[in-house]
Amino acid sequence: MEAAILEEFGSKLSVKDQPVPEPKEGEVLVKVKASGVNPVDAKLAQGYMKDRLPHEFPLILGWDMAGVIEKRGHGARRFSVGDEVFAYARRPELNNHGTFADYISVPESYLAKKPINISFEEAGAVPLAGLTAYQCLFEAGKVKLDDTVMILGASGGVGSFAVQMAKYEGAQVVAVASKDNHDYLRELGADHCLDYKSQKIEEVIWDIIPDGVDLVFDAVGGDTTLQGARSLKEGGRLVSITNQGDGLPDHIDFHFIFTEPNARQLDHIREMVEAGTLKVNITKEYSLNNINDAFEQIETGHTTGKIIVKM
Ligand SMILES: NC(=O)c1ccc[n+]([C@@H]2O[C@H](COP(=O)([O-])OP(=O)(O)OC[C@H]3O[C@@H](n4cnc5c(N)ncnc54)[C@H](OP(=O)(O)O)[C@@H]3O)[C@@H](O)[C@H]2O)c1
Repeated sequence: MEAAILEEFGSKLSVKDQPVPEPKEGEVLVKVKASGVNPVDAKLAQGYMKDRLPHEFPLILGWDMAGVIEKRGHGARRFSVGDEVFAYARRPELNNHGTFADYISVPESYLAKKPINISFEEAGAVPLAGLTAYQCLFEAGKVKLDDTVMILGASGGVGSFAVQMAKYEGAQVVAVASKDNHDYLRELGADHCLDYKSQKIEEVIWDIIPDGVDLVFDAVGGDTTLQGARSLKEGGRLVSITNQGDGLPDHIDFHFIFTEPNARQLDHIREMVEAGTLKVNITKEYSLNNINDAFEQIETGHTTGKIIVKM
């Protein structure tokens, strides 16, 4: 099979022939059709988290995928050969089971049926960013009807799903991104849009939501997290995927989330997509041979919606 492999941290990826993996007990072999590209892929290639995740070169990166089941390992009977599935395929260690390849062997417990109303390209973009928004808003953030939710980094891969999920729950959404993305955010359902480049969000928020917001979901980090914290009402909650709590006052109800595979939640996300509540916005597709261009784009930190690699 062809796979994009990393031979050392800090280098470019190269597409090479690799052996097709054999599904072990409880695993299925999936023919990958498309894989979402996420900021973490480029960070891992640079060596970020190398001390936290055991690894061995050559590495096949990539944690998102949609595809078709080709073969089942011993005891893997939840799905049938030919089923169309999608998954967030992050393992506890970094290994050569990444999704930037023609095939991946993955525990069937990570998989859910692919939504029937969207393409493989769209489905491959959903799991990591969708599960992240889901776990942050519904689990850690406990978003509920009539909450006011500020989403920092609202136009990106995670933020685009977060805006839609918060609206689905009946919250009022304040979306923060650059002005060029505000029409896009209103289409997703945002009630208010703030431009982090020309506005001080922790000042203007009090004109829009005089009591302060109930929940801040931070997908940006740095000083932006602190601006979000200053926008909270007394007793408000802050959930971040980029800041582990640095510089935050002790009294804030704070959670850092590192997203985990969860097939039950992914199945709920499938239902939201099939009901038309959750739209997937692919802004660019790349071939496996152009994967380094996709990494350059995701490294800008200014991708709108999702980008994918198509096998
Ligand atoms: N902990 C976890 O499990 C986890 C999971 C997923 C992602 N993450 C991390 O979360 C971050 C976001 O991921 P992503 O996939 O959504 O990234 P992305 O697709 O690259 O989106 C980034 C978005 O952030 C916006 N942005 C940049 N600077 C901003 C600022 N100062 N204020 C407000 N918005 C700003 C950009 O909007 P403009 O183009 O308008 O500037 C862009 O739309 C990344 O660092 C990623 O590694 C962590």
